[in-house]
Amino acid sequence: MDIKDLIVDDRDRGVFRVHRSCMTSAGLFEQERERILDRCWIYLGHESEVEAPGDYRRRTVAGRPLFFIRGKDGQVRVFLNSCPHRGAMICRRDAGNAGVLQCFYHAWSFSTDGDLIGVPGEDAYGPHFDRTEFCLKAPPRVDSYRGFHFVSFNPHVEDLVTYLAGARDYLDLVVDQAEEGMRVVPGSNRYTIKANWKLLAENSLDGYHLLPTHRTYVDYIAGFGTDDSGDTVSARPPGAAKALGGGHCVSENISRNGRPIARWHPIFGEEARERISLVRRRLVEKYGEERTYRMADTSRNLLIYPNLLIMDFVAISIRYIEPVAPDRMEVTAWHLVPREESGPALATRLDSYLTFLGPGGFATPDDVEVLESCQAGFRATEAEWSDISRGMLNPSPGTSDELQMRGFWRQWHAHMQGRNTTNVQDR
Ligand code: FES
Ligand SMILES: [Fe+2]
Repeated sequence: MDIKDLIVDDRDRGVFRVHRSCMTSAGLFEQERERILDRCWIYLGHESEVEAPGDYRRRTVAGRPLFFIRGKDGQVRVFLNSCPHRGAMICRRDAGNAGVLQCFYHAWSFSTDGDLIGVPGEDAYGPHFDRTEFCLKAPPRVDSYRGFHFVSFNPHVEDLVTYLAGARDYLDLVVDQAEEGMRVVPGSNRYTIKANWKLLAENSLDGYHLLPTHRTYVDYIAGFGTDDSGDTVSARPPGAAKALGGGHCVSENISRNGRPIARWHPIFGEEARERISLVRRRLVEKYGEERTYRMADTSRNLLIYPNLLIMDFVAISIRYIEPVAPDRMEVTAWHLVPREESGPALATRLDSYLTFLGPGGFATPDDVEVLESCQAGFRATEAEWSDISRGMLNPSPGTSDELQMRGFWRQWHAHMQGRNTTNVQDR
């Protein structure tokens, strides 16, 4: 099938369909690597993960082994995790601190800024041996926005801020919630899903599945009752789904479930009420009612195209999807918290996060099961198309419509055909 026919996008009839070979074909998976993962900005990690000089983190990003490390000068550098000598992975642990990086194969050693500083028996190489030819290599492009570090393997990629397009404002909404900046809580949850990576990009933005798939959670929260005193949301318009340009998309909800940042809910306990209202007052003083409303009373699932999600709802999580095979992805999730939070406030937030998104939470196991079920269902190859048409004729699409997923797919389809699109007039 020709790539241009993989998606049916009929705006007059309100029909949007994706051919299921997009989730199963090994050939398309290879093309995605070249045309998407090797061309876009891809998330690497957060600055707070490497606070002290010598702190490092190891990652696999778009198939490449990488690590990032804070140098003695305070700067964060990213290196390909492959020894310039003969290829061994220099960084052999996921996290740690090092003053010098020594390769375990022939013991060449490198400084934290990547210079080759030690070669056992160096004289055997003769007079033309040049250490500077063997520095650790960085990916072609490295950049960060408000603490979020990205890499690109495309030397000609646009600058990161341009690339982020309308998603930038949503990252600001996350970072501005904190008084002293955000930090990632040490540790992560990592899991493999036997399904195509795009299914999780879709699912993370899919409001339509919330009630049927996560009924247990919805009932559990409802059991705590609601807090309507000082109601700040009832007169507001309902949530919205938006394409933000460049394939980035968001689904934004009014939060009736409470947010550890400045919206109390009975589930947090009576003792948290005063503390949360103080945070809210601080936000209003600093940003005004309207922006505080957006931070505290709405919640959002943000997709930064192609494979990063910022889930800014019950708490804030960063979810990175690494495509591994047409029918396999590896997911890593971190929890992002305001630096100033500790004690009971932090405990409330961690609990909210784990209850819904943790490995044994109400949502994650459901979603893993449902995506693996879709992937297994694709073996019935006679059923060729998946439908993502919901709300296509709705002039102001809501969060259980599917505009946000179409925005992702339209960018994917354009990239796969060698085009770019920043069309924000999607529907
Ligand atoms: S491969 Fe690293 S020192 Fe030889
Ligand atoms: Fe879900």
